[in-house]
Amino acid sequence: MVAHALADPGHVTWVARDDDGRIVGVVQLRPAQEATGRHRADVNKVLVHTQVRERGLGQRLMASLERAAAERGRWLLILETQTGSPAEHWYERRGRSRIGVLADHAAAPTARSHPPHSFTKALPHEADPAAIPSAHTDPTSS
Ligand SMILES: CC(C)(COP(=O)(O)OP(=O)(O)OC[C@H]1O[C@@H](n2cnc3c(N)ncnc32)[C@H](O)[C@@H]1OP(=O)(O)O)[C@@H](O)C(=O)NCCC(=O)NCCS
Repeated sequence: MVAHALADPGHVTWVARDDDGRIVGVVQLRPAQEATGRHRADVNKVLVHTQVRERGLGQRLMASLERAAAERGRWLLILETQTGSPAEHWYERRGRSRIGVLADHAAAPTARSHPPHSFTKALPHEADPAAIPSAHTDPTSS
């Protein structure tokens, strides 16, 4: 499935490699194509190899993705993970907001799969007053 997405020009993919050049982490950004979705993007394939987890690699991949999304004006990020997976808490600890369970959204690959949980993260952007220092300026002060 990653190979299929790699071939899709609509995706932007980051990979992390170990000292031997092997890919040990991946994350993908898929900007929405709809005219009403020019501010948003899906985050797909957030994966770090089991042997190199908990070393900050996932965090660094996501940071690269978020920088690139912001540069493209894609300030609303949407991502899904399986309900009950450790990634749920990983996302929440990194500022993502839970928007709910999408029952029957994904075709379950196994009988034990759980429905996906959706999250969003809003990056600082121009419509966000906190991102524009002058928006807080008191017009009456000199
Ligand atoms: C979720 C996932 C991508 C996280 O990748 P990771 O590289 O382990 O992530 P990080 O190392 O950045 O963060 C993991 C934890 O390690 C900690 N950590 C980071 N650097 C560390 C270091 N140098 N030493 C010790 N711990 C460290 C982080 O604080 C973090 O802890 P926290 O979640 O309690 O805050 C990875 O577990 C994974 O691939 N899971 C399976 C696929 C999956 O569920 N994907 C997401 C949904 S599709």
